Amino acid sequence: MQKIILDCDPGHDDAIALLLAHGNPSIELLAVTTVVGNQTLEKVTRNALAVARVAGITGVPFAAGCARPLVRDIEVAPDIHGESGLDGPVLPEPTLALDPRHAVDLIIDTVMAHEPGTVTLVPTGGLTNIALAARKEPRIVPRVKEVVLMGGGYHGGNWSATSEFNIIIDPEAAHIVFSEPWPLTMVGLDLTHQALATPSVVERIRSIGTEPAQFVVELLEFFGGTYLEAQGFAHPPVHDPCAVARVIDPSVMTVRRAPLTVELTGTHTLGMTVADFRAPAPADCTTQVAVDLDHEKFWNLVVDALERIG
Ligand code: BDR
Ligand code: CA
Repeated sequence: MQKIILDCDPGHDDAIALLLAHGNPSIELLAVTTVVGNQTLEKVTRNALAVARVAGITGVPFAAGCARPLVRDIEVAPDIHGESGLDGPVLPEPTLALDPRHAVDLIIDTVMAHEPGTVTLVPTGGLTNIALAARKEPRIVPRVKEVVLMGGGYHGGNWSATSEFNIIIDPEAAHIVFSEPWPLTMVGLDLTHQALATPSVVERIRSIGTEPAQFVVELLEFFGGTYLEAQGFAHPPVHDPCAVARVIDPSVMTVRRAPLTVELTGTHTLGMTVADFRAPAPADCTTQVAVDLDHEKFWNLVVDALERIG
């Protein structure tokens, strides 16, 4: 079993990441934490709880985290995710109550309560909560098994020419997370732009015929429309579940070790994730980037999780 904490900002692809984590039998979802990103903290937290209801998740703590980035002003993404942050399907009223703890404390408590080397952090939003957790309780850093995050890219960006949304909205937090000595896998745009929800993928999901599957179809239809309009994609790239899929089955993607740094001062390159591909990677390099996705294996995992959720 892979124990994970999903730190997210649902968000269409975050919602699918949550469904994948819940439905896959090799994942033990220890906690779900939310962070400002695709929409305000209040909206993404409500969305996370609504998805929990759709998926039938109970017995997992959900906690709200940071309502703004460490240094920068809030930047949300209504052009991609709509005014609610999860436009498209009708969102059910949440039934789960939020954990009273701040997400940062829930992350710390959860990592400290488990054996060292057993908990993987899977951030799929800005890195504000994770950075603060590392600063508030540095003992989590050597205890965490691995950080497998969706963010960044070594070829280019989607929120600026060089920078990806999750990194550029809180580059200082990303700098902290990328600089800590925990093993870190950057599942960036180079990889996630291969995770396209093609019409045949959408039909496969529709044919499952359950309410959660229909919910995903409606998410993908809305997301497909905004990705076409805002970014010119014929089919939407479904970023966040790629990070969960990597934890489930590392063979779903290839990776390459490379030192990674986050640009904090560039006039045109703020939030760029700079990968140093000069060989050989230094012996103490703890970071790697995702390169090639096995598209079929990836969507099989998503479909399988939805079938199991029923
Ligand atoms: C990332 O930004 C968000 O809009 C998505 O949820 C994903 O985490 C892609 O750049
Ligand atoms: Ca996200």
